[in-house]
Amino acid sequence: MALIHAHRLCKTYPSGSTRVVALDDVSFDVEQGDFVVLAGRSGSGKTTLLNMLGALDRPDSGALRVAGMDLLSMGEAERASFRLWHIGFVFQAYNLIRVLTARENVAYVLQLQGKPSRQRLQTADAWLAEVGLEGMGDRRPDQMSGGQQQRVAVARALAMSPSLVLADEPTANLDTHTGGELIRLMRRINERNGTTFVIASHDPAVIDAARTLIVMRDGRIEQTACRD
Ligand SMILES: Nc1ncnc2c1ncn2[C@@H]1O[C@H](COP(=O)(O)OP(=O)(O)OP(=O)(O)O)[C@@H](O)[C@H]1O
Ligand SMILES: [Mg+2]
Repeated sequence: MALIHAHRLCKTYPSGSTRVVALDDVSFDVEQGDFVVLAGRSGSGKTTLLNMLGALDRPDSGALRVAGMDLLSMGEAERASFRLWHIGFVFQAYNLIRVLTARENVAYVLQLQGKPSRQRLQTADAWLAEVGLEGMGDRRPDQMSGGQQQRVAVARALAMSPSLVLADEPTANLDTHTGGELIRLMRRINERNGTTFVIASHDPAVIDAARTLIVMRDGRIEQTACRD
């Protein structure tokens, strides 16, 4: 069974007296272990689609199953629990908690999952080492570079053992070299752990790392390409 099954998703947003079509009849499947990049120009619907997959927003119509769950029949409490247990998010602006250290930022979601304190810190340190930040667990976000903060965000997303990692323009605030390193890190984790990634980006380095490339245009899937 596919990890993601999206069938005929439609989404419009109010815009003045009319509505803008953000998703127009979008259907696709993603297999467990894939590394998917959603490309397409600004306004093509990438973020809207990620928000549906992460249960942050609902389509107006269609069917959507992620990790065996029917996202559209679930209530808000179930959707929050789905996010906590199944989805690791990585955002463009890192979205770390400023007053917490790197280690505490990673451990926080494990606390929400009810993991015991020692295990939380051990898991956080192991993931910080995995993303190349060994020994930096005590730093706060303002004591780290943008690339390092985004690595903390990747560690935070992976530490919770998600079924799926969703990333929205994860390299957009980074320089070309740092962005390239970050995407290669994500791809390496994907290959090593088999974690499924869906990443929205128009960065050529990210597109280059895709195993499956989905190009969107005007709310529709224009093209899908598989690398292997
Ligand atoms: N909350 C909202 N209210 C109104 N319109 C919205 C909202 N969110 C998105 N839209 C519109 O839906 C369309 C798709 O937007 P979306 O943010 O998904 O595009 P995108 O591909 O992520 O673009 P970008 O590359 O700039 O991030 C756009 O026309 C946008 O203006
Ligand atoms: Mg976007």
